[in-house]
Amino acid sequence: MENMTFVLFGATGDLAKRKIYPALYNLYLDGKLPQSISVIGLGRTPLSSEDLQAQIHEALNEFSRRDVLRDNVQDFLNKFRYFIFDAMKEESYENLRAFMEEREAELGIPDNRLFYLSVAPRLIDNIVKQLDASGISRTGGWRRLIVEKPFGTDLASARELNASLKEVFVEEEIYRIDHYLGKPMVQNIESLIRPNPILQALWDHKQISNVQITASETVGVGSRASYYDKAGAIRDMVQNHLLQLVMMTAVHHERKLTSDQIEQKKREIMESINPVSDEDLQNNIIRGQYQAGVVSGKAVKGYQDEDGVEDDSTNDTFFAAKLCINNEHWSGIPFYIRTGKRMDQKSTRIVIEFKQDSDAEKDVGIVSNLLVIEINPNESVSLRVNVADHSSEKFEPTYIGFSKHPGHQPEAYERLLYDGMIGDSTFFAHWHEVELSWEWVQPILDAFANDEAPLHTYPAGSTGPDASHELIERDGFEWN
Ligand code: BG6
Repeated sequence: MENMTFVLFGATGDLAKRKIYPALYNLYLDGKLPQSISVIGLGRTPLSSEDLQAQIHEALNEFSRRDVLRDNVQDFLNKFRYFIFDAMKEESYENLRAFMEEREAELGIPDNRLFYLSVAPRLIDNIVKQLDASGISRTGGWRRLIVEKPFGTDLASARELNASLKEVFVEEEIYRIDHYLGKPMVQNIESLIRPNPILQALWDHKQISNVQITASETVGVGSRASYYDKAGAIRDMVQNHLLQLVMMTAVHHERKLTSDQIEQKKREIMESINPVSDEDLQNNIIRGQYQAGVVSGKAVKGYQDEDGVEDDSTNDTFFAAKLCINNEHWSGIPFYIRTGKRMDQKSTRIVIEFKQDSDAEKDVGIVSNLLVIEINPNESVSLRVNVADHSSEKFEPTYIGFSKHPGHQPEAYERLLYDGMIGDSTFFAHWHEVELSWEWVQPILDAFANDEAPLHTYPAGSTGPDASHELIERDGFEWN
C-alpha cells in the first residue's frame, strides 16, 4: 500500500471515536496501514496533538474490538496530529496545506491524500471548493474523498451535493460510505453463491418464492431526535442500507465479477425496480411509529414523548414495503423489506424463501426451505430443511449451517477504510445507485410529507404494526 496522508474532517466527533479510530487501530494491528502514514485530525475545538492522541487512546479502550496493547499503542498514536480548523474560513485551508506539506516532507510521504468527511452535510460544498482553491486536493499523487452518510435528504439535495463533489473530484475518486456494505456477511453474499453451483442454480424466480430483508433494532431515537425526527426510517435506513441489501441480494454471480461489473449490475437492478405507484402507497408501503411499550424487560416511552420529538410528529420509526424487480431473474418475485426502531430484537437478516411443492404435506409439518443470512448481531448462514421425526411421524424443520464469531472478524469500518486506502470502491455506494435509490423513495417521501399514506402505530418491543404482517400475509407468506 502506498504511503499517504489521511485527513479526517470531524476528528473530535462521535463517529471518529466509535468507529474510525478503532478501525484504524485494528488495521494497524493487522499490519494493514501504509508503512508511513500521516493522519491529520481536524476540528474547531482548540486541542493539541497530544490531546487528540489522548482522546484516541480513550476511544480505543472503549470501542476497539481488540485489546489495546501497551507496547505498541504509542507508535500508533504518534501517527496522529491535530490541526485547529474552521471549515468555513479560507485561511484554515491555506494553513492546513502548509501543515500537511511539512508533515509529508518530515515523513518522506508522496502527496497521496485521502480526505474523510465526517461532518455536517451543509459544510461539504464549501470544504470541497476550498480543497480545490487552496491547492490541497491538487496533488501530484492520487487523491480520494470518503463521504459519510447522509448523502442528501431527498433526490434534489443528493443531486446538488453530488454536483458539488463532481466540480472537484471524479466519480472514481469519490467513496460514499454505506456501512452495511462493509459488513462481513454482506460482503460474503458473493462468496456464498458463486462457488456453490447449487445456490447459483436456485437463485432466481423459478425456485424462490419471496425474499425478506429485515433490519430491526431495539434502540429508540435516543439523543438523535433533531436529526431523526426529520429523517425517519426511510432516509435513515431504507434509501441507503436496505436498498443496498436488495441490490446485493439480487445480483447474479454466475462468474467472478469485477468491481465495475458489480456496479453495473446493481445499477441495472435499481433501474428494474417498479416505481412506487399510488396503489403501492396505499397497500404496499407501511409507515409506522412506536408507542410506549416494553423492550427487553424495560418500560420505554412512545416516540412522541421522546426528548426533542415534536408532539404531533408523524415521523416514521418503522417502514415496510413490497417491491418487485422486473428483470429476467426476479420478475414476479416479491422482495419485502422492513426496518424499525424499538422492535422486539436487534437483527439484520436476509431470508430467501424457496417455492414449495403444491402438494407438500403441510399437515405433517413440511415447511418451505429457507436460506437465512444473518448479518448482525449474529453472523451466520443456515438452510432450513425438513427432517423426518419417526417417533411423531412428522417432519421437524431443522437448520443446517455455519456461524462466525463477530468480534474475531474485521468490522465494517475496517474493511471500508482499508478499501479506501487501497483504492477499491467495490463496497461503496456509487452515484447511480444512490440517485436511483432516491428516485425510488422520492414519491414515498412526498406522500409522507403530505400525509397521504396511513401512519400505523406499534407498541415498543413488538414486531411492528399489524399492517406490515398483513402486507406479506396477503400474498400467502409470513415474516420469517
Ligand atoms: C445507521 C443509522 O446508519 O445505522 C442508525 O443512522 C442505525 O439509526 C444504524 O441505528 C444501524 O446500524 P447497525 O450496524 O447497528 O445495524
